[in-house]
Amino acid sequence: MSSDVAASLASMGYWEMQAALAWQVDMGVDEAILDAPIDRTIVPEKTPDPVIAPAEPALEPSVDGVAVAEGLAAAAASLDALRAAMEGYDLCELKLGAKQLVFADGQPGARVMIVGEAPGRDEDMQGKPFVGRAGQLLDLMFSHIGLSRETPDPGAALYITNVLPWRPPQNRDPKPEEMAMMLPFLRRHIELIDPDIIVAMGNHACQALLGKRGITRLRGNWAEAMGRPVLPMFHPAYLLRTPEAKREAWADLLSLKSKLGQGT
Ligand code: URA
Repeated sequence: MSSDVAASLASMGYWEMQAALAWQVDMGVDEAILDAPIDRTIVPEKTPDPVIAPAEPALEPSVDGVAVAEGLAAAAASLDALRAAMEGYDLCELKLGAKQLVFADGQPGARVMIVGEAPGRDEDMQGKPFVGRAGQLLDLMFSHIGLSRETPDPGAALYITNVLPWRPPQNRDPKPEEMAMMLPFLRRHIELIDPDIIVAMGNHACQALLGKRGITRLRGNWAEAMGRPVLPMFHPAYLLRTPEAKREAWADLLSLKSKLGQGT
């Protein structure tokens, strides 16, 4: 920041600051990226460039995040234990930027388990998966075939989780190493819920569960993961952007309903 800008900020009164804040909100600023505010009215002293010492060889042996996750997940004997293991897992950087862990929602006895990608802003704030606009569409879609996350009846119930339990910054795509670290937890989650059918919502869920991407080709084609049927579907966030794809989503919902009717 130039000293002119800093000086003009420093001379702002209360109402001018309110106006500056309102302007930022109008421009689309909706969250603070850092925990603590930066006082930009303070002009830092110019310090000489530091002398950079040659890099020391790392003393700590590098930790294998996937192996640690596998050990923790395998030891989790219940959903509560799995949640606690994930809460305590510090090797995935996404945890640092998220407000909280988003574990799951719905009925643990459900026959259908939905796996999404990762929490967004609303999910990060509420600690539940699929509660924003995409989640509202998801609820509406499944209600049309008589399924809901609220009902305790296992035949009509849904259980919902994500590949990643922490919101990626600015909702960016998950990195392969983040997915690899969290996959053992997802697999254990599926074992503990033991659903009859898994719905893989979008490319990242297909990548995690089936090792494949290309949702336009995959959707609607029953596949298998962990010994159970998996139905890849368009992600509801994609359907919000591409309403014409709802026709295919409806066909997939009917296919799911029919599979449930067959008792799988
Ligand atoms: N998108 C997802 O994939 N999961 C959520 O929980 C919310 C949006």
